[in-house]
Amino acid sequence: MPPSILVQRDYDDLSRAGADFVAEIVAARPDAAVLVATGETPMGVYAELARRQEAGTFDGSLLQVFQLDEYAGIPDHDRRTLYAWTLRAFADPLHIPHRRVVRLPGNGDIADGCAAYDRSVAAAGGIHLAILGIGINGHVGFNEPPSDRWTTTRAVRLAPETIRANARYWGQREPVARRGVTVGMMTLVSARRTLLMASGRSKRDIVRRAMRGPVSADVPASLLRDADDLTVLVDRSAWDGAA
Ligand code: PGA
Repeated sequence: MPPSILVQRDYDDLSRAGADFVAEIVAARPDAAVLVATGETPMGVYAELARRQEAGTFDGSLLQVFQLDEYAGIPDHDRRTLYAWTLRAFADPLHIPHRRVVRLPGNGDIADGCAAYDRSVAAAGGIHLAILGIGINGHVGFNEPPSDRWTTTRAVRLAPETIRANARYWGQREPVARRGVTVGMMTLVSARRTLLMASGRSKRDIVRRAMRGPVSADVPASLLRDADDLTVLVDRSAWDGAA
């Protein structure tokens, strides 16, 4: 099925449309296994879902949450872990207990932790909904180019552009993590529904390449076009460069 590409006027409209999309899936399956990206792009969707949760017009409290990516080698309790961000932005506002948030390993035996994570995905019957952003180099999660369709959950070296982009989330004096852990493309491409979001002019070129260029490991987001049911939600500036 070709992706459906929904172009919204601006970030606020994108966030509302993203929340509508997620809410419809959750209404049909309240205990869905949802893979949840961090990064700036989906924050408006999560904030809108949190508002609806408080208003009683949406209930995400039964969801199972799967973390998308993580930094390697920073302490597990550090608030800069992407796990902590996933809790703050998604699980806690939706009253999802932490035991239903499946964490990626950032320390210890990472290969073993990745295998355990993949067993949890399998036990959930696979991912029902993957909520994803796209990096300016075409990465999804920390699947940096090149990452092929068969990559599994694993430790990775972060690309220089990713390290630069992440620097804004770190204290100025602290070195940004250079290694990470990511859910592999195999799991992402197998999700039953996929929501890929992009906002802002800086994403325009890579969104074009991912959607209109060749499906290639060099642009990992392009591999999502092989997913069962991909919806791409962009604002105008990320699609045609309009203000
Ligand atoms: P962003 O990150 O949403 O903060 O732009 C996207 C990504 O790098 O995957």
